[in-house]
Amino acid sequence: MRSLRCLYTRAHSLLLLRSSTISLSRFRRLSSDSLSVNSISDSDTDKPKDKSDAISSWNPREVVMNNKKGKSKSKTSWVCEGCGHSEGQWWGSCRACNKVGTMRRFSQGSSTDSATASAGTGLSWLPEQAAVQPLKLSSVIHGITQHQWRISLPGLFGNEVGRVLGGGLAPGSLILIGGDPGIGKSTLLLQIASIIAEGSDLAQPAPVLYVSGEESVEQIGSRADRMKIETDELYLFSSSDLQDILTKAHRLSPRALIIDSIQTVYLKEVTGSAGGLTQVKECTSTLLRFAKKSNVPVFLVGHVTKAGDIAGPRVLEHIVDVVLYMEGEEHSTYRLLRPVKNRFGSTDELGVFEMSQSGLEVVSNPSGIFLSQQNSDSDVLAGLAVAVVMDGSRSFLIEVQALCASGSTVSRHVNGVQASRADMIIAVLMKQAGLRIQENAIFLNVANGMALSETAGDLAIAAAICSSFLEFPIPHGVAFIGEIGLGGEVRTVPRMEKRVSTVAKLGFTKCVVPKSVEKSLKALDLKEIEIIGCRNLKELINAVFRG
Ligand code: TYD
Ligand code: MG
Repeated sequence: MRSLRCLYTRAHSLLLLRSSTISLSRFRRLSSDSLSVNSISDSDTDKPKDKSDAISSWNPREVVMNNKKGKSKSKTSWVCEGCGHSEGQWWGSCRACNKVGTMRRFSQGSSTDSATASAGTGLSWLPEQAAVQPLKLSSVIHGITQHQWRISLPGLFGNEVGRVLGGGLAPGSLILIGGDPGIGKSTLLLQIASIIAEGSDLAQPAPVLYVSGEESVEQIGSRADRMKIETDELYLFSSSDLQDILTKAHRLSPRALIIDSIQTVYLKEVTGSAGGLTQVKECTSTLLRFAKKSNVPVFLVGHVTKAGDIAGPRVLEHIVDVVLYMEGEEHSTYRLLRPVKNRFGSTDELGVFEMSQSGLEVVSNPSGIFLSQQNSDSDVLAGLAVAVVMDGSRSFLIEVQALCASGSTVSRHVNGVQASRADMIIAVLMKQAGLRIQENAIFLNVANGMALSETAGDLAIAAAICSSFLEFPIPHGVAFIGEIGLGGEVRTVPRMEKRVSTVAKLGFTKCVVPKSVEKSLKALDLKEIEIIGCRNLKELINAVFRG
C-alpha cells in the first residue's frame, strides 16, 4: 500500500510538470508527426466557438474562493468519514451513524474564509443581485419541456447512461461517479465525453474537456485510440491545479467538463494535500459553483477505498447533484451503473454494461447477466431460484442453488446462507408444507461467492429446495422476494417496490411476493412483470410447482 502511494505521489508530481490542453485529433496528429506532444497555445483553445452566454459571463477567479484574505484563526471541526456528520468536538463514535473511531479532524482555514467556504457549498453560486425576485413556478417552467432542457446523449450507449441520469444530462449538474479502482470509471467517462462532443441530430459537435490528474494526455489518447474514439472536439488535459483547469475551461467553453479524479485535484489557497478531506470538499464546492454559474455539466470521478478513506465519495455525496456507483464482480466483465442519489431523476434506474476490448458496451438483455452461468440446459436444471436483496439503497439479484440428495454421508451444508436461517426454513418446509425431506442431505449455495444476509431471500431458498427435491426446474425469469415465518407464512420485507422494479427492469417476467403486498405492487403497473402473491409455503408450491 505504502509503495503504491509512493508511486502515485511520483506520478502525480510528474503530471504536475505538464499542464496543457490538447484536442484528441491534435494529439493524434502530433504523435504521428513527432513523438513529443507540445502544449497548445492559449489562442488555440481560444478559437471562436459558439460560446454560450452563461459561460462567458462568469470569471474563473470568482468560483475559486480566496483564502488569503483575513488572518483570523482557523476553525477545527470533527467530521465522520462514514456519513459526513460534523461536530465541534471529538467524539469516540459518530452521534449520527454510531460508527466508532470514524471522527476525523477537519480544519477550515480562517473564520472569515470558512464562511465563504461553507457558502460555497451552499448558496454562493446563486445570483447576488438584489434585483432578482422570486418567480412563480408557472413562469419558470413555461415553455420548457424535460426533453428540451436536457442535453441528449445519442446512441445505445448514450441512452443507457441518459436513462441512469434520469432522462439525459441536466445542464449545470455536478455528477459524481464512484467505484473500486479498475472497475472502468475512466473508460466510462471517456466514452461519455466522446458522445457529448460528437453531438446529436439536435446539437452540433461541441468541445468537451477531459481533465485527468492520474494519466498523461498520451495515456488517455492511446486509450481513446483503442476504443476507436475519433471525435475532433474532445480536448484532453493533464493537470491537478483546479484553478488552472477552470481557467482553461473558461477559454474553451466546453459542453461538459470531466475531472478524473476529485482526489487528485487541489486548490493552492486551501491547506492540505490533494485527496485530503479539506481539499476534496473545497474542490467539489468550487466545481459546484463552476457548474451552476456556467451551466456546464461536470462529471467527477471519486475513489472508494477499502479503508474508507476520509476523502471518499461519502463526504461528497452531500454536495453533488447526482451520485452514480459503478459495480461489478471481480472476475465478471459486467458493470452496473446505479444512481444512489439523483436530484433530476429516480434512483431506481440501473445501467448494465459489458467491458469489452473496445470499452464499455450496452448489454441488450440485462437479465442474461445473472443467468449467464447457467447453460442452455438451465430450463431442465432443478434447484435454482433468484432472490432480490438490498445493499444500502442498492438492490441486486442473486442466485440461490439447492441440492437435495439421498444417501449422502453429510446431512447438511450451507455456503453463503446463514446456517441457522437455513435450518429454520428446512424445518418449516417439513412441518408446515409437508415436504418429506428428512431423508435427504441438503446443500445450499449462493452463486458467485455472494452472501445472502437478508430474510428477503427466505422465499428463494425455500423455492430452490422445493425445486431440487421435487426435481421441478423453476422457469427462467422468475424471482422470489419474501421472508418466511415459523408458521410457514410469507411475510413482507422493506422496500418491496424498489426490489420489484429492479426485477422488472432486469427483464424478469414473474415475481413471487407476499400476498399482503400483491395489490399495491400490481398498482405500480409494471407491465412487463407478473406479480404472484403467496400467503404461505403451500401456496408457493401450488403457484410455482404445479402444472
Ligand atoms: P479504468 O477505466 O481505467 O478503471 P478506473 O478508472 O475505474 O480505475 O478501467 C480499467 C480496466 O478496464 C482495466 O482493467 C482494463 C479494462 N479495459 C478493458 O477491458 N477494455 C477497454 O477497452 C478499456 C479501455 C479498459
Ligand atoms: Mg481511472
